[in-house]
Amino acid sequence: MQNIPQSVAKSIKRLGPWFHNIHLPSGHQTAPEHFLGDFPSSKWRQIQSRIPRNLKGWTCLDIGCNAGFYSYELAKRGANVLGIDSDNHYLAQAKWIAKEFHPENAPHFEKMQIHDLSRLNQKFDLILFMGVFYHLRYPALALDTVSMHVRKLMVFQTLTMAGDEVVKPRRDYGLHERHYFDASGWPKMAFIEHAVAGDDTNWWVPNHSAVLAMLRSTGFRKIERVAHEIYLCQPEKRGARGREWDLDEWKAATGHGRTRGSCHD
Ligand SMILES: C[S@@+](CC[C@H](N)C(=O)[O-])C[C@H]1O[C@@H](n2cnc3c(N)ncnc32)[C@H](O)[C@@H]1O
Repeated sequence: MQNIPQSVAKSIKRLGPWFHNIHLPSGHQTAPEHFLGDFPSSKWRQIQSRIPRNLKGWTCLDIGCNAGFYSYELAKRGANVLGIDSDNHYLAQAKWIAKEFHPENAPHFEKMQIHDLSRLNQKFDLILFMGVFYHLRYPALALDTVSMHVRKLMVFQTLTMAGDEVVKPRRDYGLHERHYFDASGWPKMAFIEHAVAGDDTNWWVPNHSAVLAMLRSTGFRKIERVAHEIYLCQPEKRGARGREWDLDEWKAATGHGRTRGSCHD
């Protein structure tokens, strides 16, 4: 550490606290005492081999990019990356790293709410939707919106309830068959009225079965759990499956009139 410029250490301190422990080219780490260990490097190691090594020509979106750990990893592979986050504190960290350490092919970072994506007329080859779903008050709305922007691949990660069981649902249930919904593998989400781990930005925690069901129902196929709580999925053309979510409801919820032009029509 002695040979490392003091200014970097000072900036790390000034911009803290950090949620991403980023190993900077200067040798510094932004959060070496992270409560999850070397996070998110440990998570990245679980998925990095499942993402193409060469992302030249790919457009990528990192939702809830935080300090940009994943955005930088994708940019290092040649991708053109947009990182979005609703929190200025984390965006300041991401932008500082981009400016100081990634002069070439730095990701672009923008302050955006996930629901702002409904007004973005652009698709991305790869979308990372990691660590955000359970923070959302309107998670299914966000998932449907995100699905409309994925061209090739989405990596989805969420906090989940315990249990790996999966009930394969029948096409229909009678009004008096509601006991089926109590089965442990039935798709469920726990509503968090107050907080989890002292964090009152958590709202909904799905079980594994609900993650699969929601990803299917929003229009993904080839859904593969590649690590604990991490899913790789490919989009399917709208209409390729039987039941679909209601585009008119989505438009009303996101403020899109029927006549407004967008990539979603
Ligand atoms: C638990 S961190 C996950 C960071 C990173 N994606 C990861 O997996 O390591 C959640 C991030 O999502 C951001 N976030 C939460 N709600 C959001 C929203 N509605 N729209 C955009 N970003 C959001 C937070 O500011 C935070 O940076």
